[in-house]
Amino acid sequence: MRIGVPKETADGEKRVATVPDVVEKLVKLGFTVAVESGAGDAAHFADETYCAAGAEIMGTAAEIWADSDIVFKVRPPSPDEVGLLREGGTLIGFIWPAQHPELMQQLAARKATVLAIDSLPRQLSRAQKMDALTSMAGISGYRAVIEAANAFGRFFNGQITAAGKVPPAKVFIAGAGVAGLAAIGTAANLGAIVRANDTRAEVADQVKSLGGEFVKVDYEEEGSGGGGYAKVMSEGFQAAQRAMYGQQAKDADIIITTALIPGKPAPKLITAEMVQSMKPGSVIVDMAGEQGGNCELTEPGQAVVKHGVTIIGYTDLVSRLAKQSSTLYSNNLLRLTEELCKTKDGVIDVNMEDDAIRGLTVIKDGSITWPPPPIQMPAPPPKPAAAAAPAPKGHGHGSSEPMSAKSLVTVFGLGALAFALVGLYAPASFLAHFTVFVLACFIGYMVVWNVTPSLHTPLMSVTNAISSIIAIGALIQIAPPLTDAGADRPNALILALAVLALALTAVNMFGGFAVTRRMLAMFRK
Ligand code: NAI
Repeated sequence: MRIGVPKETADGEKRVATVPDVVEKLVKLGFTVAVESGAGDAAHFADETYCAAGAEIMGTAAEIWADSDIVFKVRPPSPDEVGLLREGGTLIGFIWPAQHPELMQQLAARKATVLAIDSLPRQLSRAQKMDALTSMAGISGYRAVIEAANAFGRFFNGQITAAGKVPPAKVFIAGAGVAGLAAIGTAANLGAIVRANDTRAEVADQVKSLGGEFVKVDYEEEGSGGGGYAKVMSEGFQAAQRAMYGQQAKDADIIITTALIPGKPAPKLITAEMVQSMKPGSVIVDMAGEQGGNCELTEPGQAVVKHGVTIIGYTDLVSRLAKQSSTLYSNNLLRLTEELCKTKDGVIDVNMEDDAIRGLTVIKDGSITWPPPPIQMPAPPPKPAAAAAPAPKGHGHGSSEPMSAKSLVTVFGLGALAFALVGLYAPASFLAHFTVFVLACFIGYMVVWNVTPSLHTPLMSVTNAISSIIAIGALIQIAPPLTDAGADRPNALILALAVLALALTAVNMFGGFAVTRRMLAMFRK
């Protein structure tokens, strides 16, 4: 089948749906790829690079749309583009079916099959590699901080210089979803003091792990609307949240808002009075501009100065990092294509039995299949009842049944027999090494099996540090054991090598313990 990649036509859109590296992989999957001339120019991917990767360059969008079985796009198609789509063709890209009912009707009229990447069931772990919403949100969160830094007249980090002391910037982030968390990490890495709030209390730990401080609203209400998304909060909560945001606005130098509720207008969190109360020169980046904005004074798509505060409402943050976002987006589409073409023969199969594919297929052969039925997720494992008897110990985490006395005797009996045979016939020197080897296997087995799987990475790092015991070898070379009183001093080369070995093992040893400590700290609440 032929995959076509037209140039994006929406105003200011610089992304392209496929990059040359991905073209190569699509060709390996058995597809032919056609790219509209200049489609990658704004993202710095030249026609020649696409050609070198195995794509065919076509002069006009009309040719691409007419000659392709599958069209890869970023933004939802315009009515003109829908008119160009081949009857019965397949379209993959952002569609937002809830917001675009007319577009859905137009596409259905073309008897198209449409896969909306925004409708991917994100809760499936298998879907993560195709999750373009997450990859795009991460980029926009990063860019929001860069835009804020550009408009802000000071450093983010605190400094003490000969010319005076510079306090660190204070950044407040409203909404700690994917974009908010990316913004927290970026601002914290630049040295700012970062605080964040979200209606979903479960994100507090994620905020902390990225170097931010979670600020709670003084009102008890569950903020989760299911599937990791938020819900519209009660009047009481909103009033308490406004009071807290009012305090934060007076203190913060920069506010970045990312709060969204699926299918609803963005909640208004920053009022005109809050903007007025901010210090002159402060900055607000409102990432919810496209859904109406989180700040009352935001002008979507614009950067404006009101009450001395720069309010940035850009709706093209992702497009401002077009090379990066195109690369991640096209990787997401590649992973989706791999799911659609498991046979690697250049033919896709839209399998409606597959939960992930079913979720994102919003139109199948001209019939609207959106919204999909809810996915039945496996029930979480039942919590052990408080009164339940403790689990039997000593048989590794994989087995729940204790070994019967009979099989235990058999295993030990066979082991003892094997030992007796080795002891009778093997040379004495082998026996000493063999005993150490068997004991090492036994201790290793017991250590690994009795540590919970989630702690296996720190375990590996600590065993790596312990393996630095080889330092003893180097020490013996430097200073022969006391019992060898008459032994010759080692020659200079051996001494130098031993000192070098000692230095390298010291790095391994201290580094290993330090890394283990940091890893274990992540597991402690
Ligand atoms: P989003 O873009 O819809 O919302 C952004 C954030 O705004 C959310 O964290 C939301 O709780 C917050 N928010 C909404 N109303 C608010 C209000 N009035 N005040 C303060 N904050 C408010 O969400 P996004 O970033 O696309 O994903 C949200 C969550 O979805 C993630 O944090 C994650 O937990 C979950 N998710 C799960 C995935 C998975 O299971 N594999 C994949 C992707 C996301």
